[in-house]
Amino acid sequence: MTKPKILVTRPLVLFPSARAIFDAHFDAEYFPGRIPRDELLKRVADKDGLVCLLTEKVDEELLGIAKRLRMASTISVGFDNIDVPACSRHKVVATNTPGVLDDTTADFAWTLLMAIARRVLEGDVWMRSGTWPGWDLDQLCGGDVWGKTLAVMGFGRIGRGVARRAQGFHMRVIYNDAVRAPADVEKELNAEFVDRERFFREADFVSVHVPLMPETRHLISSENLGRMKPTAYLVNTSRGPVVDEAALAEALEQKKIAGAALDVYENEPKCNPALLKRTDVILTPHIASASVETRTKMAVMAAENVVALFDGRVPPNALNPGVLGVA
Ligand code: DGY
Repeated sequence: MTKPKILVTRPLVLFPSARAIFDAHFDAEYFPGRIPRDELLKRVADKDGLVCLLTEKVDEELLGIAKRLRMASTISVGFDNIDVPACSRHKVVATNTPGVLDDTTADFAWTLLMAIARRVLEGDVWMRSGTWPGWDLDQLCGGDVWGKTLAVMGFGRIGRGVARRAQGFHMRVIYNDAVRAPADVEKELNAEFVDRERFFREADFVSVHVPLMPETRHLISSENLGRMKPTAYLVNTSRGPVVDEAALAEALEQKKIAGAALDVYENEPKCNPALLKRTDVILTPHIASASVETRTKMAVMAAENVVALFDGRVPPNALNPGVLGVA
């Protein structure tokens, strides 16, 4: 029996357990590196399934070319790279990888939060420069973390994970979200729902965990940055376009906030040049979920979604199960 043909847009060398699943079930083609758009369109044309990353757009153009495609499985929890309504129109099931990266991402939001508040990178650069003259009272004094107010924007699994970790630092936790969390969750996490106005005004640390949607694009705007305390910090591990990078650079320049740590960017792989030269900013290359364990789980989950579909089951993480006649 011929196996379904799938295109996997990376070689998955670091993730043999996921690759083993693909090899066992499919006639799998792996692209050897970062796939250019023209190669993607060419190679997907005769495939039954596509396994992609958030860097590949699954849109009307691709779906129009890939006439046999039944599945688009992104190895990411965010799926703003996939036009889900277009997939539904083309009867293509779209899936993502939720759940498995929550704690790893929450850990990393905390890594950034601590690093920016306590000026870790500036200290590292100073030490390596060989110019540190020895201890002094006024060197690299940052802001305390413990006992402060953590403001979590987006109170889903990752946002709640960030809030949970704040308890160990004796922080007050406030949050904002389109939907208020159930009372038992608020109680467990000792978190108070506040409106946007209070959210930005009362925060010592804003940590962003919303998906990218029209309503969240540039949510961290000049206006909201202007509401923050001059001693407050911003951390973004969600999606880059949620932060208006030009407005952030301006707010930092005018000392409206104390610092920012970003893992994601408006126009990846680029970052606003005004941020690149600032020492009150930490910039990491979209690595919040990048532990070997978690990335393996994500790749395996994406593989299991594809296997389920071609086995005649509803993929556990189907974003548009309606395509399969399931509500
Ligand atoms: C995702 O999965 O959406 C992250 O941005 C990468 O882990």
